[in-house]
Amino acid sequence: MSAPSRRPFLGRRAFLGVLGGAGLAAAGCGALAETSGQLLASRLPLPRPFTVPLPVPDAARPVRPGRYEVTQRVARVEIVPGTTTEVWGYGGTFPGPTFDLRRGEPVTVAVRNELPVPTSTHLHGGVNPPDSDGYPTDLVVPAGYGTGHHGNAAEHDGHQHVERRHHLVKDYHYPLDQAAATLWYHDHRMDHTAPQVWRGLAGMALVRDAEEDALPLPRGERELPLMICDRAFDEDGSFRYPDRHDGDYMEGVEGDVILVNGAPWPVAEVTATRYRLRLLNASNARRYRLQLTPGGRFIQIGSDAGLLAAPVAHDTIPIAPGERYDVVVDFSAYPVGSTVTLINTLADGPARNVMRFLVTRRAVDDSAVPQRLSRPEGRPSAVTTRTFDFRRTENAWTINGHPYRPGVPLARPRLDTAEIWRLTSDFHHPVHVHLAHFQVLARNGRPPAATDAGWKDTVDVRPYEVVDVLARFHGYRGRYMLHCHNLEHEDMAMMADFEVT
Ligand code: C2O
Ligand code: CU
Ligand code: CU
Repeated sequence: MSAPSRRPFLGRRAFLGVLGGAGLAAAGCGALAETSGQLLASRLPLPRPFTVPLPVPDAARPVRPGRYEVTQRVARVEIVPGTTTEVWGYGGTFPGPTFDLRRGEPVTVAVRNELPVPTSTHLHGGVNPPDSDGYPTDLVVPAGYGTGHHGNAAEHDGHQHVERRHHLVKDYHYPLDQAAATLWYHDHRMDHTAPQVWRGLAGMALVRDAEEDALPLPRGERELPLMICDRAFDEDGSFRYPDRHDGDYMEGVEGDVILVNGAPWPVAEVTATRYRLRLLNASNARRYRLQLTPGGRFIQIGSDAGLLAAPVAHDTIPIAPGERYDVVVDFSAYPVGSTVTLINTLADGPARNVMRFLVTRRAVDDSAVPQRLSRPEGRPSAVTTRTFDFRRTENAWTINGHPYRPGVPLARPRLDTAEIWRLTSDFHHPVHVHLAHFQVLARNGRPPAATDAGWKDTVDVRPYEVVDVLARFHGYRGRYMLHCHNLEHEDMAMMADFEVT
């Protein structure tokens, strides 16, 4: 394919950045080595932290049982107080509505596209048939696309040679034969995922099941989905994003404003009780190490793909793009009137803050975190081992030396088998596998971190690390992808097909 020639050349600054980051990481240095993108500064005065109340996205409502209809459209919303921002949103909101779903109750989501650009919607963490998985060329086109009314004439797709399917409205079928978990959905259009997600095309989807219902976990208003992402703003309030040919941003784009559920550094009033926080890093490139200040622990109950067998306590949580951590925080540990700030210890300056909780009053709490959360599943044995090397070449990010080649699978695992996938890397690459959930077996031949526990679909592979995961291919045969979830790396070709046979 001709893609590499269209990729932006790596600017000198980015080139030095790659080398510098790698060198520091190898030397085991501090926060700089943990940085996975290039900072893009806002041209708007930054909003004051902890002044905007935490929004909770509305629940998506089915038009009839089992069927949802969502229109992707342009809208103007107030993100930074006193200014408005154009967003491209599912339902015209950012984040999109939260889907509250149940295991064993399949749904269809009809996505209609009224944006100026084509889209492809992926339910991240979903075990879905290939034609509902958001393949990058399986596009939902806006009315008029291809007839001269292309809303964004400057945009050249360049993949005309790739066979693609076009829809004006597409029905995505989600069988939901999977355990309770925190999923999310976002755009996945070939070469344009990063800017389209940046403009707002992302939302959360919670799968519940009877096993989880039986647990006394915090619920209702004490269960908060927290979609964390960073953005930069232009003078006029619009989202700022670099030109796609600006090689300085090849490492990834990091904004200087941290949004939670679409609000800058919000504040949430909580009672002095337990809360379940479903943490999602929906940033394009930014990694976080979350910590509570003035202190406190996260009791992790779930990872990307579902509940852990037993809770694990952490002082800090590292979270890379695409990852989720389902945690319980007990605010009764703080005196009434305290503020508890969620910070990111990997950042300095304003981006070090994420959000704040204000403990307002005591309240009855009948929740608990039981020692047994889910039935531990036995580890299947692997039938083979494959290696996937994530690396930069001259002007693209590649897997096993190849920029993305749609339709050319790098692996053909068999349905209902498990394989060890060995992931190696030259930089920070949060590696995500569609369809297959996995367990982390080892990092550099040593046992994984406590925060690697459970079934996952995204794993943070750090510079020069070798991460072994045991992936289970279950559900459907067909064509899926694995890719780096640093969305700029993904758009610069760090993606590959695999085919379940
Ligand atoms: Cu969340 Cu293929 O992505
Ligand atoms: Cu995915
Ligand atoms: Cu990457």
